[in-house]
Amino acid sequence: MLHAVIMAGGSGTRFWPASRKLVPKQLLALSGQRTMIQSTVDRLGDLIPPERQMIVTNKILVEAVREQLPELPAANVVGEPCKRDTAPCVGLAAAMIKRTDPDGTMVVMPSDHVIASHAKFQAALAAAEKLIDEDPTRIVTFGIKPSYPAESFGYIQRADKIAADGVDAYKVEKFREKPDRATAESYVDAGTFFWNSGIFVWRASTILDALETNAAAMSVHLHAIADAMGRPDFDDVLEREFTAIKGTSIDYAVMETYKNVVVIEAPFPWDDVGSWQALARLNDPDEHGNTVVGSHIGIDTKGAIIMTQPGHTIVTIDVEDLIIVQTADATLVAPKHAEERVREAVKALEDKG
Ligand code: GDD
Ligand code: MG
Repeated sequence: MLHAVIMAGGSGTRFWPASRKLVPKQLLALSGQRTMIQSTVDRLGDLIPPERQMIVTNKILVEAVREQLPELPAANVVGEPCKRDTAPCVGLAAAMIKRTDPDGTMVVMPSDHVIASHAKFQAALAAAEKLIDEDPTRIVTFGIKPSYPAESFGYIQRADKIAADGVDAYKVEKFREKPDRATAESYVDAGTFFWNSGIFVWRASTILDALETNAAAMSVHLHAIADAMGRPDFDDVLEREFTAIKGTSIDYAVMETYKNVVVIEAPFPWDDVGSWQALARLNDPDEHGNTVVGSHIGIDTKGAIIMTQPGHTIVTIDVEDLIIVQTADATLVAPKHAEERVREAVKALEDKG
């Protein structure tokens, strides 16, 4: 059976001040009415029912996630005691799924993307599930045609094409997580690389075996957690064993070395909502190229990205390409070209206490 696991434990510092520790970007609505995590669930449509959907997040966010997703059984929102990146998150989810469905297949999705076509997304998932039924040790990924040599994505090199249902699928030659700029440029020039969309499909047993091989120390802790499932001391065991894991991402822990990987060229439009400029891609700009979420009066203002809280208006006069984000207790003003430096603001505030 197909299960969905949504990873939602990221901190999303580049969306400060809208995103905070207790309200990270996956809990925000950055385009339309639904928050990013709600949209991620919406994307599954009827393909996977709520009983087989699981959200893995930080324990401080569990209540907020349950509030946003009332149709999910409360037990399916799982809280990690601390942040250890995506490999332990995937391992924990896989162990939970395997316990009730030993041959279960899981689709793992990040919660920081916008995917416009639900129908195409679901068709691609169905094709991936079929590829795995044909060879259960396969890992299936979804590749995005790269539009520039980004250093913030993983890259997947395709090899021979293989037969698949209504999608273009290829064997994978190699997977390389977040290369430096020069390497990324050579990959884009080669024309045989995709960006890794961060969405994976695999049998729960396959990914647990792969973690066993590549991350033996982590697996010891995952086994201890799995053994305690259903026992009254589960929360204590989870707290102790999960905290003892050394954090790493699934891309480094498994994807860079796993041999039996297939990439499906994503037949759906995909956007990584990485930082404030994404807001301009996700919302239609006004006639002066300003993207406004909330209330804004612009006098001789061009190319701005503005976000306000209800009941607050921002007025700008004679400015260009500014990002202004107003929240109850903090306001950001920065030129677009400096958006990456928002992380510095978060750090400075943390240092200040
Ligand atoms: N539960 C949990 N726990 N979730 C986490 C944790 C954690 O400790 N850390 C990150 N996540 C969630 C994030 O909220 C996000 O939805 C997803 O896992 C991916 O984590 P990111 O931190 O956003 O990864 P990335 O964007 O740097 O890189 C990944 O995604 C790229 C595509 O956007 C990689 O898979 C890249 O290869 C890929 O190109
Ligand atoms: Mg990301």
